[in-house]
Amino acid sequence: MTTQAIAAVVLCAGKGTRMKSDRAKVLHPLLGRPLAYYPVSRALSLGAQSVVAVVGHQGAEVTRSLTSLFPQEPLSFATQAQQRGTGDAVAAARGALTGFQGAVLILYGDVPLLTSETLKRLLDAFHASKGVLAMITCRQSNPTGYGRILRGPAGQVTGVVEEKDATAQQKALTEINAGIYVADARFLWGALEKLTPQNAQGELYLTDIVAQAAGVGAVATIDVDATETAGVNDRAELAERAEVLRARINLAHLRSGVTLLHPASTFIDEGVEIGPETTLGPNVSLHGATNIGAGVTIGQGSVLTNSTVGDGSDVKPYSVLDEAVVGPRCHVGPFARLRPGTRLDEGVHVGNFVETKKAHLRHGTKASHLTYLGDAEIGSNCNIGAGTITCNYDGVNKHLTTLGNDVFIGSDSQLVAPVTVGDGAFVAAGSTITEDVPAQALAMSRAPQVVKEGWAERRRKVLAGLKKDT
Ligand code: UD1
Ligand code: CA
Repeated sequence: MTTQAIAAVVLCAGKGTRMKSDRAKVLHPLLGRPLAYYPVSRALSLGAQSVVAVVGHQGAEVTRSLTSLFPQEPLSFATQAQQRGTGDAVAAARGALTGFQGAVLILYGDVPLLTSETLKRLLDAFHASKGVLAMITCRQSNPTGYGRILRGPAGQVTGVVEEKDATAQQKALTEINAGIYVADARFLWGALEKLTPQNAQGELYLTDIVAQAAGVGAVATIDVDATETAGVNDRAELAERAEVLRARINLAHLRSGVTLLHPASTFIDEGVEIGPETTLGPNVSLHGATNIGAGVTIGQGSVLTNSTVGDGSDVKPYSVLDEAVVGPRCHVGPFARLRPGTRLDEGVHVGNFVETKKAHLRHGTKASHLTYLGDAEIGSNCNIGAGTITCNYDGVNKHLTTLGNDVFIGSDSQLVAPVTVGDGAFVAAGSTITEDVPAQALAMSRAPQVVKEGWAERRRKVLAGLKKDT
């Protein structure tokens, strides 16, 4: 079996009217990535030397999104100005593949569940057949809407007929065209030139290349389960595809050594990385570019987005992390909120109802309860008492709070930024700190305590004497 160079064309021009959306269909997210991410990514993983996305509806947005997802990859874009049919859409990619010789994989931007293994199987069938075209077919008990596969007496494929052009007899066929092909480049461009819109829809049907291929050599087919080739036409189908993909992602993590206490309620986006011996509780959601180390526990109901958690850390239930970096062996939560720019070094404790933002806590520091740390540089082994607040905002600008190492901040203190507290300093509980505190100093800014012996008892008697009879 000879293997050739591979290129791919991904059709992304459609509007997706049934999505009832201002957003192009292929940009709707599925487990954290736009639909079109999936076919592009699969083509690249097969070693495609060039992937051309054919865009049309909201072409600029689709181009921007895919470019940011694949900045280093051989991905280019071709515009199909008018939706004149699938054949016209593929022809739009020709210029971007000038000079390319080899196998051209044709994929749809709205068909996200095809696996690399299936596409590999399609390529193998293409190479084995030494033909010019291989395609995916499916068995559908209800084939309505799909193109039907026409076969000759020896079982060989002779063509595809679209639903709207089919006779009653052809409509009864249950083998359908999934719309996924591999074609020899030279054959493909020649075949596309010969398409005409002489059909019920007045379109240039890509499917008409199948009869042309049948005329010059055998057309190879592989039969694939319809759950893999299913597209997305509306939001109900998007939800169905998401369920399949979610179960697939969860299973892959289970198999690689991650415990999911309740897979049915666990949402892990495509691309999230999780180390072995990590446990996720029920209702945990891991989104975007999240990376969890080994031996980590993420407690029930926690939601992590674009965040990193180091080995051996424990994120207790109902914590929310967004663009946060948690080092190894940290304790976070329950009910902690780590906002963008949070960085916890090794062994940091951030407890319940603690909110952090643009805050760096060095190793061993503890902020165990009810605290806001925003725009803060905090040294190692500090103790931040309950109710501590960094007053980082003056109504116009944000300011930095800087703490050295081994600082003790007493409970219910306010640190009015910009302010610095030196190494080993001690801030007494209930202080409002507006001036820098030198290393090893004590700062105390509350009013001295006054005690009046017997005052409370005397007051009660006075009040009782004034009480009216009712
Ligand atoms: C197509 C096939 C049909 C197959 C079905 C599988 C043709 C003529 N028919 O039908 O045999 O069973 O897919 O789903 O190919 N697109 C463009 N530009 C266009 C037209 C379409 O980019 O001018 C894109 C669409 O956005 C979509 C894909 O190509 O992603 C398929 O187009 P669609 O019109 O849905 O084809 P079907 O009628 O479903
Ligand atoms: Ca379709």
